[in-house]
Amino acid sequence: MIKIDKESCINCTICYEICPDYVFSVDEVEKKDVTVRFADHCCICGHCVSMCPIGAVTHDTLPCDDFVKISKPEIKPLDLQNLIFSRRSVRKYKDKQVEKETINQLIECAAHAGSAGNVQTEGFIVLNDKSFLKKLELVVVDSLWHGGVKFFKGKGLIQKFLSKRFGAKLTYQYQKYHKLIVRRRENNEEEGMIFRNAPAVIAIHGLKANYLAQTNSAIALRNIELMAQTLGLGTCHVGFLVTASNMRTRKINKMLGLDNKRKIYGALMIGYPKYKYKHRIPKQDRKVNTMYSA
Ligand SMILES: Cc1cc2nc3c(=O)[nH]c(=O)nc-3n(C[C@H](O)[C@H](O)[C@H](O)COP(=O)(O)O)c2cc1C
Repeated sequence: MIKIDKESCINCTICYEICPDYVFSVDEVEKKDVTVRFADHCCICGHCVSMCPIGAVTHDTLPCDDFVKISKPEIKPLDLQNLIFSRRSVRKYKDKQVEKETINQLIECAAHAGSAGNVQTEGFIVLNDKSFLKKLELVVVDSLWHGGVKFFKGKGLIQKFLSKRFGAKLTYQYQKYHKLIVRRRENNEEEGMIFRNAPAVIAIHGLKANYLAQTNSAIALRNIELMAQTLGLGTCHVGFLVTASNMRTRKINKMLGLDNKRKIYGALMIGYPKYKYKHRIPKQDRKVNTMYSA
């Protein structure tokens, strides 16, 4: 429960101004006398506790000692831009494990991402057992195939229907997956197809009932991607695992020990890159609609 120590409160009104959930009220005329008005609106984001200049605002579930002082970031805008521009999806890794502490550090960074309503209901699964990843890989390929990819053969009436349903670009992509699975199976090359023999995979799961679980997960994984880069690690999304999890939720959940209220919303392969990228890769110009006046 959120509280204000009225004895020490200096009525700066910062808590009132920054609260996302309109928990506080203030005397509108004099702009002072801050009180807790709707404590049960609080999303426990901790902003008010963090910003109170004299520590008058507290919350039962947020111990004051856990509010670590922020050291001023040294990152210059162009350094961050360079980091963003130089990030690549890394698919070839050195045969070297990622240290447990490093994985924990990455997960901590992910957990510091925002979540809609501050619900923080996403969880992580770390996979680094090679034999388990191999088994999971086969289940993912099988789920993709039977979940829909088998229909994208590239001919006939069904193809026309699928084109109409998915549009040209996605249909082309799924046709490519169809060919990829067929060819790799024919040549007994399924191994490494999904996780690329990465030494570790971090998967993120969330509640199916949360409409924003996908967004929360994407943001959390982006924290991991950027942090990993600074640690000399490479990452790559495993969209195939997410797609398989959409197509065959129960099967994937069972393997990953998740109950069926949850689903995998994202995953990253992680490892030390075997090769270094030397050039920035151009991206397509995207359509930008400007909806403000000059
Ligand atoms: C949501 C998402 C899912 C992806 N899934 C896979 C995947 O399953 N396997 C893979 O090799 N790459 C995957 N990628 C990587 C993309 O292929 C890659 O981002 C794209 O080719 C551009 O390359 P870049 O990330 O180096 O800029 C995924 C990327 C995103 C954003």
